[in-house]
Amino acid sequence: MSKADIGLIGLGVMGANLTLNIAEHGYTVAVHNRTASKIDDFIANSGEFSSRLIGDADLGEFVKSIKRPRSVIIMIKAGKPVDMVIAELLEHLEEGDAIIEAGNANYHDSVRRYEELKAKGIGFLGIGVSGGEEGARHGPSIMVGGSREQWHRSEKLLSDISAKFNGEPCAAYLGEDGAGHFVKTIHNGIEYADMQMIAEVYGVMRDGMGMSPLACAEIFKKWNEGPLNSYLIEITGLVLEAVDEKTGKPLIELILDKAGQKGTGRWSAIAAQELGVAATAIEGAVAARSISSLKDERIVAEKIYGAPGTGKSDISLDILEQALLASKIAAYAQGFAVMSKASEENNWDLPLGTIARIWRAGCIIRSRFLDQMASSYEKDDAVNLLVAPDFVKIMKSNHKALRQVVAAGAIGEFPLPCLSAALAYFDSYRQANGTANLIQGQRDFFGAHGFILVDRKGEQHGNWPSTL
Ligand code: 6PG
Repeated sequence: MSKADIGLIGLGVMGANLTLNIAEHGYTVAVHNRTASKIDDFIANSGEFSSRLIGDADLGEFVKSIKRPRSVIIMIKAGKPVDMVIAELLEHLEEGDAIIEAGNANYHDSVRRYEELKAKGIGFLGIGVSGGEEGARHGPSIMVGGSREQWHRSEKLLSDISAKFNGEPCAAYLGEDGAGHFVKTIHNGIEYADMQMIAEVYGVMRDGMGMSPLACAEIFKKWNEGPLNSYLIEITGLVLEAVDEKTGKPLIELILDKAGQKGTGRWSAIAAQELGVAATAIEGAVAARSISSLKDERIVAEKIYGAPGTGKSDISLDILEQALLASKIAAYAQGFAVMSKASEENNWDLPLGTIARIWRAGCIIRSRFLDQMASSYEKDDAVNLLVAPDFVKIMKSNHKALRQVVAAGAIGEFPLPCLSAALAYFDSYRQANGTANLIQGQRDFFGAHGFILVDRKGEQHGNWPSTL
């Protein structure tokens, strides 16, 4: 067999599906996996694509079976295992070859790997791949960072295998070193916020309005026809209508209310904090997952305080829909603000409009709304989505609904950490005269940190009384 166009290490579900996707587009792929038996099984079960796959359990032979200059995709568990595989690969790769790291890597690791590999004459791309198993197989959204030269070599293949929106590939080069993985991290932070806000709205329906899972499912299906149209709203309807085969009960009522998290949401909240950008809806979503894991403590606390969510809410479903839209805009505004600041700090020059464009299909947060966002960023170049003219219009007609829902949650005693964070962010962002003057006064009082007076120049101090 002639040499492979590309190599791929890691035949887990994501790696296997990505390989089939690449083969389906006419490329020959060399595959390698730590557990060698998986290689033969995978090729034997790849049907019509088997003839385009070359497997080798020996890493050196695997590398030799790839056309030079070689590109090797690594699709394994993020973290240390990636460094181990890179170290092993380096014994076989030659100058001019490249590594494409496709896991959910911490972007700091991608920055480091890019530099380390560059010093050795090996190209590096850190690519964020979103869309889960189905996306990997039939077209994910691909966020690329790393060496521009390597991007030019891989652009055709990555564009071919990516999702398409109106024929446009959802794959783009976003910047040097860790830019691709950073953008994927923020994608996941937004994904956390989006999912949490949907879950909170489901909570209002269930606890405030007494709706059954099936009734909730019908509403999400209806909303999927309107401005909230998105993959996450679509699957929410499908999750809510699913029935447990064993008991015949709605599956949702049997699923334990403890949310897992692998780390990308937390990384995006940490990045926001490190950059000094308010991303409270994303932080709220991460915190909500952490509180969800305290099931035993929550049971004890509910016994002490009584069950929340027993107050009946008079919120209408239209108001809920509007509230979700407004909160979603605030959460996306935060995610984009974090990317904008990170771009400045890291000299990435992140193209925000392009990011919105490659999120329109393939990825988990794909939605109609992202199309609007892409054109808005390309048209207006606003500093924050909340002041982009198209979104100003939507916020103006929907923020009152968000207020009503957050108030109903507070009075009805059901938690809305993400919706309330989104509202508080909006209100803080739009308030010209805030309350940080008092913070400055307090800081100067106890620590002589100084403040600026609005009617004069230079740093000033107060003549504070002693409290001794
Ligand atoms: C995607 C998803 C994907 C994965 C999440 C789950 O974009 O395809 O985000 O990367 O499903 O990492 O993350 P948690 O386990 O943290 O929810």
